[in-house]
Amino acid sequence: MSKLCIQGDTRLVGDVKISGAKNAAVAILPATILVEGITIIENLPNINDVAILNEAIISMGAVTKFLDLHTLEIDATTIYKYSATEPCISKMRASYYLLGALLGRFKKAEVAMPGGCDFGGRPIDQHIKGFRALGANIEIEDNIIKINADRLIGTRIYLDMVSVGATINIMLAAVLAEGTTTIENAAKEPHIVDVANFLNKMGAKIIGAGTDVIRIKGVSKLHGGHYNIVPDQIEAGTFMLIAAATKGDICVRNIIPEHMDSLTSKLREIGVTLIEGDDYIRVIWKQKLTATQIITLPYPGFPTDLQPQMLVSLLQAQGVSTIVESIFDNRFQYVDELRKMGANITIDGTKASIEGVDTLYGANLVATDLRAGAAMIIAGLVAKGTTTIDNVRYIDRGYEDIEKKLTALGAQIFRID
Ligand code: EPZ
Repeated sequence: MSKLCIQGDTRLVGDVKISGAKNAAVAILPATILVEGITIIENLPNINDVAILNEAIISMGAVTKFLDLHTLEIDATTIYKYSATEPCISKMRASYYLLGALLGRFKKAEVAMPGGCDFGGRPIDQHIKGFRALGANIEIEDNIIKINADRLIGTRIYLDMVSVGATINIMLAAVLAEGTTTIENAAKEPHIVDVANFLNKMGAKIIGAGTDVIRIKGVSKLHGGHYNIVPDQIEAGTFMLIAAATKGDICVRNIIPEHMDSLTSKLREIGVTLIEGDDYIRVIWKQKLTATQIITLPYPGFPTDLQPQMLVSLLQAQGVSTIVESIFDNRFQYVDELRKMGANITIDGTKASIEGVDTLYGANLVATDLRAGAAMIIAGLVAKGTTTIDNVRYIDRGYEDIEKKLTALGAQIFRID
């Protein structure tokens, strides 16, 4: 088991290049199953979730080859197996995209129930509702989801709540269906748009991605091609918050600044200086942060995946801030770890009240999930003394070369295997 060790009270300064978006990559890799041909995916982040999904599509009979660290060529023509039930599959949440892709192309699939970060219940009832609406039969046996359909017929599907996963999964199942499918109350995240752009480049007919109504006109088959993954909005936001929390000055490069608007405006509100370019944002700490109120919401609201990192930054603010987590039932588990460092945080249901403190002290922490792990890194960079973080595997799922990028900014961080 790896641990990260951080020598804190460090101001981070310099440039960081953001990788391709994890939450786009973990959907687009399964989506290549829909293509009877060769796809070349560029700007893939070099993270564990990508490696697991690559293994899964190879186990089904696809032939894949890394042309370089961030470019994968996939030939899905030869897929002959429609199941992914290995234990590693149930370790990640995004494995559910294999269901939509296999159903869409082969009208059958057997995939282990998804796992992933535990923030309270993470059901997939909306995914199943969409598949059933298209005409699929579904049963769950021994933690395996089994799906099949004689035909997939386009229809109107209204999601009971905004769901990134369900929106993408239904899109994957509908691109080769007969007729037109309309997804209403759809999620609008940048990675939803990226998956739709990928599918359209391969011959799909999807309009409305990025709005709350997406229309998919079924086509008979998809052809191969090249696609470049969108920059990671959450990794970018994590580094912007590292600059704010460590009193730093970081230029976050290779991003789409418009994707960061909810965070950019919040950082300006609490006193951080930001300079936006075409594909970068420079974040400069100039004065003590002031408290604020935040509620996490579906895009374009404040992203739940930046909630832990924002909370740690607000520990540096003057006064009491609040964060309401409206997406997940239980996404404040990591707060107990921060209390070991002297953080003064009160949790009342889905609302956190964060009292700014003068000093955090290094401690031995255990990452509870991917973004909480990132937040603990920020806390370690700020704290006086040494901080260790266990369960680094969570962080490796979503952040490429995290120590290398942080060391280049002046952090004193290293991994203990
Ligand atoms: C995706 O998870 C992301 N994961 C999460 O990022 C992210 O936090 C989340 O979207 C919200 O933006 C990937 O893209 C792989 P949802 P997902 O379906 O699809 C409820 C990270 O850090 N819901 O949008 O699982 C659900 O319980 C990860 O990169 C149902 O009730 O999220 C939640 O309360 C963590 N039934 C809410 O909807 C369903 O069928 C939003 O979930 C589906 C969801």
